[in-house]
Amino acid sequence: MHNILRWVILILLLIALVQSFTKNNSVKKVSLWLLISAHITLILGLFQYFNSETVGFHLVENMGGFGNVMKDGFARFWVVEHITAMIAAIILITMARGKTKKENYNAAKWLYLIALVLIMAAVPWPFREAIARPWL
Ligand code: HEM
Ligand code: HEM
Repeated sequence: MHNILRWVILILLLIALVQSFTKNNSVKKVSLWLLISAHITLILGLFQYFNSETVGFHLVENMGGFGNVMKDGFARFWVVEHITAMIAAIILITMARGKTKKENYNAAKWLYLIALVLIMAAVPWPFREAIARPWL
């Protein structure tokens, strides 16, 4: 579900981005679906993060400390980079939802644009060698 919701988020985010750039009032609806998708992904992500032995917080203990995690590209991605970038993106998506409710589309468009950049950078795309995960 966490994998598939990524596609829902990306599609809705692109739509919301175009709508806020063009000041289309439909963004008020899309921003809510986008927020809900992002919050569900957050819950699922937190569950994975604190339950997984191999791609979450347990790596800190398993690898003998945070210093070793930061020296290892794979561990650093899963313990630090993915969660940090994604929580930042979800906060921006939540803020942008508030902006669209007040019809402040100018603020919303920049929040959405930064969220998109963060998500594109922090998804474990299949072509990202060590951390690769499937498209679906
Ligand atoms: C750790 C988990 C979560 C956190 C920290 C969180 C946090 C927040 C925050 C800060 C807001 C904005 C309140 C505002 O200023 O208007 C919000 C709104 C909302 N969240 Fe979450 N949320 C979480 C999980 C979820 C889940 C799992 C769902 C749905 C299944 C959800 C659905 C919503 C909805 C529908 C709104 C109101 C949106 C609106 O009408 O503008 N959230 N949440
Ligand atoms: C916009 C938000 C997010 C997106 C688009 C996203 C996307 C993804 C994708 C595509 C995967 C690969 C899934 C697979 O193995 O097929 C993944 C894995 C993972 N994500 Fe996220 N994620 C988001 C937020 C988060 C957050 C907030 C957390 C932590 C709190 C998190 C924790 C994880 C973990 C632990 C995995 C590894 C799961 C595994 O393969 O066993 N994610 N994420």
